[in-house]
Amino acid sequence: MTRASLDKQPHEVATMFDDVAERYDLTNDVLSLGQSRLWRKEVAKAVDARPAQKILDLAAGTATSSLPFAAAGSYVVPCDFSTGMLQVGKARHPHLPFTAGDATRLPFRDDVFDAVTISFGLRNVQETDVALRELLRVTRPGGRVVISEFSQPTWAPFRTVYTEYLMRALPPVARAVSSNPDAYVYLAESIRDWPDQPALAARLGQAGWSRVAWRNLTGGIVALHRGFKPV
Ligand SMILES: C[S@@+](CC[C@H](N)C(=O)[O-])C[C@H]1O[C@@H](n2cnc3c(N)ncnc32)[C@H](O)[C@@H]1O
Repeated sequence: MTRASLDKQPHEVATMFDDVAERYDLTNDVLSLGQSRLWRKEVAKAVDARPAQKILDLAAGTATSSLPFAAAGSYVVPCDFSTGMLQVGKARHPHLPFTAGDATRLPFRDDVFDAVTISFGLRNVQETDVALRELLRVTRPGGRVVISEFSQPTWAPFRTVYTEYLMRALPPVARAVSSNPDAYVYLAESIRDWPDQPALAARLGQAGWSRVAWRNLTGGIVALHRGFKPV
């Protein structure tokens, strides 16, 4: 098994991330042409983590996405279901409380987190709506969610160029830098298959999140969605 298929069987997704874990962060930097660092800064601003707040970083992988919250003095829990990603993360950041868990059955009590966030993970979860409801369950009333995910560039000519990059240029580049280039074919396909900005916002609302809004980054290559748990 080298890559997951679009039906996103959880064991295939977990195995695929186990395979890429060691070089995951490097590959990200290269394939996003350095943009991933900028996107992470914007997620940190949107989450606005404060000292002593409890933050869940779901699908945290190696916890690169968790570091800004720890730096802000909050108690961040990186959670993921790929043991490969968790092991690489724990070796690099032994002070963080890595937790094994599936987005659709989170191992946390109701109403415990001030904020929950998921960066480039929701797209990989087979049952998106179940995960959105689980995130709501573990968030305290009034708490917030921030989702960072690949989305649809809003300007049509740019969308065409970007889709060409995804489908044609990305696989050969991935072959050069990744330990599992086939995983990046899945990456391209799963981005194409993912709901656009309004569609994801609607799903957040249906899952019970209120005051849902989004902001585009890099022309809509990435969108940050946010919402609040009703009080
Ligand atoms: C692209 S990585 C993102 C890692 C990190 N958030 C970041 O921004 O670098 C996606 C992660 O989602 C995790 N994942 C996918 N489906 C999951 C699920 N159902 N439950 C928990 N983690 C999941 C994978 O194991 C993988 O580590």
